[in-house]
Amino acid sequence: MSVSTRPSPFVIAVDGPSAAGKGTLARRVAAHFNLAYLDTGLLYRAVAARLLRAGIDRPDEAAAIAAARAVSAGDLDLPELREEAVSQMASKVAAISGVRAALLDLQRTFAAAPPAGPSGPVAGAVLDGRDIGTVVWPQAQVKLFIHADLEQRARRRHKELIERGGESIYARVLQDMRERDARDSGRSVAPLTPAPDALVIDTSALDADAAFAIAVAHIGSRCQDSAEP
Ligand code: DC
Repeated sequence: MSVSTRPSPFVIAVDGPSAAGKGTLARRVAAHFNLAYLDTGLLYRAVAARLLRAGIDRPDEAAAIAAARAVSAGDLDLPELREEAVSQMASKVAAISGVRAALLDLQRTFAAAPPAGPSGPVAGAVLDGRDIGTVVWPQAQVKLFIHADLEQRARRRHKELIERGGESIYARVLQDMRERDARDSGRSVAPLTPAPDALVIDTSALDADAAFAIAVAHIGSRCQDSAEP
């Protein structure tokens, strides 16, 4: 199946907490439907990395907003973006409304005019994050909310860290994830929550293929709905 070119880009919003499988799913969906893909968490990570590089280890509001305004596409390749210190700082700067406002245009521009992919023009975009379906692009034709039990997500992250050759203590990963979840869901600005019209997929007991099949079936049905007169 392919998504036809339309005047307004076809946008799929994929939201959810960390390690629920949303990144893997979003990338696969984007490749399958020939859509551009943006991992919006990288933008918040880039802000955090800029602060840490400048020797600022607290989420200083003015510095964080200045860093967010300076974020460019090149920052998304910084090597330390997946480090734990960056993850923790990213979730703190993400609670600052000025940071979110500074990153909003970038995300909306991507959704409104998705960049062409390696194989040419694309018909739309997939954005994954925490607030894509609720704040960044509430008009998205498809909204998916991917979640899983906290312990299941912590086990996945722990396994991933070990497989990457790093050190990991499960209890620590669980605690860090619990704190990040609390910050992401409890903040007053754009908290993590499913959009009312999102399809919620619980991946606690699903593998990546099963989650992908559910998403593709849902996207297919939404395409049909929007094609009907
Ligand atoms: O998805 P991630 O773990 O890479 O995101 C890093 C942090 O950025 C996460 O703690 C929440 C925040 N974030 C956000 O608040 N809004 C988004 N759209 C994406 C990420």
